[in-house]
Amino acid sequence: MYKKLTTIRVGNLTVNLYEDKRVYRPLAVSKLIASCISLKGGERVLDLGTGSGFLAIVASKLGAGSCVATDVSPAAVAMAKLNAELNNAHNIEVRQGNLYEPVEHELFDLIISNPPMTPSPKPLKVETYGGADGRMVLDAILKGAREHLRPGGKLLIPTVSIVGIDITASMLARLGMSYRCVGYALVPFGRLLRGLESYILKLPNASIVYDKCMRPCWTAVVFEARLLA
Ligand SMILES: C[S@@+](CC[C@H](N)C(=O)[O-])C[C@H]1O[C@@H](n2cnc3c(N)ncnc32)[C@H](O)[C@@H]1O
Repeated sequence: MYKKLTTIRVGNLTVNLYEDKRVYRPLAVSKLIASCISLKGGERVLDLGTGSGFLAIVASKLGAGSCVATDVSPAAVAMAKLNAELNNAHNIEVRQGNLYEPVEHELFDLIISNPPMTPSPKPLKVETYGGADGRMVLDAILKGAREHLRPGGKLLIPTVSIVGIDITASMLARLGMSYRCVGYALVPFGRLLRGLESYILKLPNASIVYDKCMRPCWTAVVFEARLLA
């Protein structure tokens, strides 16, 4: 059914993925997060909004004991199941549902997520739409993390400058979590964001930088946050 295969390298790891135009293809932030995953081995991992299954597969290959990968999109769930099999990542369980609903009352050592963060005045595809200010899904994930982390557990989550990096930092502090930045990237706007540039420039929390060719870019930071004792 799926014909197109792509290979992504993360450090020494190789991940093979089927592609489907209905499912998010791992891009710059996905690869940045993947390069920030650090596991001792045996951890219970949640990948919330798994898309193709990419981050769950990386966690599995890095030694996670088990991994629950969730997504609200049925097409993503089907694709993630197939990709887990393709990579012999047999300890990944894929579940469909909104935010933390598929893992109610469950605890994890590591929660990873690459939420949709595109701000837009009108709805976009579920894989990119972050609400009017881009923070709709991101904030919900931040708020729910406490309830799903084991003591000492970590949340690995990015924020892009067009939705306010400092807002994530203040929210983590307010939620009783300590944090550090473990990844950083500067990425030129793609076609979708170029079309939204004038809207984004009016958002109070957004910041855009311009590279030496004067292309608009966003910066992305990956936060690693822990529950304070
Ligand atoms: C930016 S993509 C990231 C996909 C993948 N983690 C990666 O990095 O390649 C965001 C994913 O979150 C999913 N998603 C969006 N809203 C969601 C929600 N409320 N609950 C669960 N998943 C959601 C989308 O379907 C999409 O697959």
